[in-house]
Amino acid sequence: MAKSTTAFTCTACGASHKKWAGRCDACGAWNTIVEEAPLSQGPGRGLGAHKGRAVPLSSLQTTEAPPPRHLAGMDELDRVLGGGLVPGSAVLVGGDPGIGKSTLLLQGAAAFARRGLQAVYISGEEASAQVRMRAQRLGLADAPVRLGSETNLRDILTTLDNERPDLAIIDSVQTLWSDQVEAAPGSVAQVRAAAHELVTFAKRKGVAIFLVGHVTKEGQIAGPRVVEHMVDTVIYFEGERGHQFRILRSVKNRFGPADEIGVFEMTGSGLAEVANPSALFLSERGQPVPGSAVFAGIEGTRPVLTEVQALVAPSTLASPRRTVVGLDSGRVSTILAVLEARCGIPFAGLDVFLNVAGGMRVNEPAADLAIAGALLSAREDSALPPDAVLFGEISLSGALRPVAQAENRLKEAQKLGFSQAILPDSQKVEGAGGMGTRRIADLTGFVGEVFGAG
Ligand SMILES: Nc1ncnc2c1ncn2[C@@H]1O[C@H](COP(=O)(O)OP(=O)(O)OP(=O)(O)O)[C@@H](O)[C@H]1O
Ligand SMILES: [Mg+2]
Ligand SMILES: [Zn+2]
Repeated sequence: MAKSTTAFTCTACGASHKKWAGRCDACGAWNTIVEEAPLSQGPGRGLGAHKGRAVPLSSLQTTEAPPPRHLAGMDELDRVLGGGLVPGSAVLVGGDPGIGKSTLLLQGAAAFARRGLQAVYISGEEASAQVRMRAQRLGLADAPVRLGSETNLRDILTTLDNERPDLAIIDSVQTLWSDQVEAAPGSVAQVRAAAHELVTFAKRKGVAIFLVGHVTKEGQIAGPRVVEHMVDTVIYFEGERGHQFRILRSVKNRFGPADEIGVFEMTGSGLAEVANPSALFLSERGQPVPGSAVFAGIEGTRPVLTEVQALVAPSTLASPRRTVVGLDSGRVSTILAVLEARCGIPFAGLDVFLNVAGGMRVNEPAADLAIAGALLSAREDSALPPDAVLFGEISLSGALRPVAQAENRLKEAQKLGFSQAILPDSQKVEGAGGMGTRRIADLTGFVGEVFGAG
């Protein structure tokens, strides 16, 4: 039967540990391990006797058409959902506190409701009056969204079962509590139990459910990662402090491509969709300056141009600074090492600062060449051609490797007024569409071609 020994759980990733530790060895987070009663194991142990019921099995064939998707009419949201909302699906929306999750989902709920869907918004964090104030500020007071304020999971499920809406927003999963779990609200056990109940309800009753989850850096509150595996779609709402841009990014989607992004701008009257993010991310560019390189990237199915900026300066520190924002710092270290080892261009004794303009995050390896370009340009104090975009992956040997969707990258660059692309020699391009291409075999060739040195 159920054994009730205490266990230790990481609130960031949900891993269980035998004893307490300062750092979780599963995800590397610090101060996230807390003591928690384990979920009771029930009579599920020792299945040797097979006393279950046989599950009916069926073939893979179906004559049923896929369920129609619901469009919110907010393109940036619909795209990230994989082309609209799938009925009965469970969507987790994670993000830092205050980034705009409630705003996004209230606007989303209103958009769906105005197109005839029954939408319910349950807030466990704010009183209904507070949500109404926000709705008023966003100009959504007339949208037929039904609003409730509750944290008791049992009451919420009963309400949803009575109402049977098309979609329900639960803001947030960390505030819910189930009387069947002996743990505090926000604990891993409670958050998992609540998410499990809601996801099961969504599938069984065909109600699409959005769960809001706050990203927590440390402490007692479980982060959204502990429920990622239960839901169909995981999207994160990101943004840099001090920037008004917000990026909605799908990291998992059972019903569409992952890695799609939607771009919004936070304004006093809510989130405004940004239909042309490339123009936005490049809008802060002035005259050509050393240290700037334009990367022709792809986010999901959409090309997005961003500016990689580097600053390289003599360091007074024994181990010089490597400050990287919006790029993978491991990737940057590798590129610095390749520049040194393969091209003989050392960065020792130099502070390096790198970032992506506009608060964007770039994860593609295709950005390697733009990163190298920005670094070299800053170090040599020589601007790259202002009409050029760059893309290409750099291998440890210094060779340039081709990347996916070259045509889309070139097309977007041309649309924004660029006339040439610096890209790998081995890149196949079917129709550059009027863009000039400068093909480069390896990093040494790049240095020679662009900066006139071997
Ligand atoms: N009156 C206002 N004018 C302009 N922007 C506002 C206004 N009120 C709020 N905001 C913006 O909305 C953001 C908060 O949005 P929201 O409450 O949707 O975030 P959240 O992610 O749900 O936060 P929480 O973690 O508190 O639930 C603020 O950080 C601010 O940028
Ligand atoms: Mg909120
Ligand atoms: Zn962990």
